[in-house]
Amino acid sequence: MRDRIIKLLSEIDNLKANNPEEYEALRIKYLSKKGVISSLMSEFRDVPSEQKKEIGQKLNHLKTAFQERISELKKELESSSVQTTDFDLSRTSYPIPLGTRHPISLVKEEICDIFNRLGFSIADGPEIEDDWHVFSSLNFAEDHPARDMQDTFFIQSNPEIVLRTHTSSVQTRVMETTQPPIRITCPGRVFRNEDISARAHCLFHQVEGLYIDKDVSFVDLKQALLYFTKEFFGSETQIRLRPSYFPFTEPSAEMDISCQICGGDGCNICKHTGWVEIMGCGMVDPAVLDNCGIDSKIYSGYAFGMGVERIAMLKYQINDIRLFFENDVNFLHQFQSAF
Ligand code: PHE
Repeated sequence: MRDRIIKLLSEIDNLKANNPEEYEALRIKYLSKKGVISSLMSEFRDVPSEQKKEIGQKLNHLKTAFQERISELKKELESSSVQTTDFDLSRTSYPIPLGTRHPISLVKEEICDIFNRLGFSIADGPEIEDDWHVFSSLNFAEDHPARDMQDTFFIQSNPEIVLRTHTSSVQTRVMETTQPPIRITCPGRVFRNEDISARAHCLFHQVEGLYIDKDVSFVDLKQALLYFTKEFFGSETQIRLRPSYFPFTEPSAEMDISCQICGGDGCNICKHTGWVEIMGCGMVDPAVLDNCGIDSKIYSGYAFGMGVERIAMLKYQINDIRLFFENDVNFLHQFQSAF
């Protein structure tokens, strides 16, 4: 038995497995229940007792030596099989196509960021609103055309409930629950019953702003809007305020910026005027403040509101509002990556 053990030990270094089948054959030959080592083990009981100690040790040594060698063969086989596949581990990986932020989100956030630097925080509110918050509290007369079915989406079973047509409803909600100073921007989706065309959509986004405190004047409004314009469109850009009308502001104005495309010389975008309208604004009507529980004898404020699609169309020179809603990846991938 001693000789057989010595012979087997001398075979160990020559064991080779070139493929999994050869490895398996070796494993079965030496280590399985009916393998060489097992049968030596079962013969061990016939070894004369004075040799048992010595042979026992040798046998144990033989068994572990084979176990180690055969598991070594397995490892060799595994690592060589990786090298023989088609992988080139040193090759740089394919770039994974990442998503991009939607241009409306980018512009909306940029607008809010600029006003944030002036101390405006963001306020949110429901898209499905009641008549009071969208219209009545804001001084819309009962027969104002905005309440018309043509302009507003009503909930059929309850005409008091509407899809908000502007985010001024959020301003009302904040005024009802907060005492001045109030300085908020209200970004969000709004809905109007418009025919869809290159210039208009029934769903779009607004950022409105509201500032209420003691002694707020039109000068503050104009300066805030000038700051916003120069930050967003560049320091060369000029603004112009034209008198206008909104039920909830008095006086009211529309703000134009000098045309980004022609620099004021006149082109198709500015209809050859050199100016492009970007938002409505004005001093909050004292009646609105009183409607919302803010004392108009103590406080005054300004408000403004702009359409995000319109601003994005000017910034990126996009000529069809429908592109924002079609989710064509060729369009969307042109804007800044999210990562
Ligand atoms: N709410 C107006 C609109 O949707 C915009 C606006 C806001 C005008 C605040 C003046 C002041 O058109």
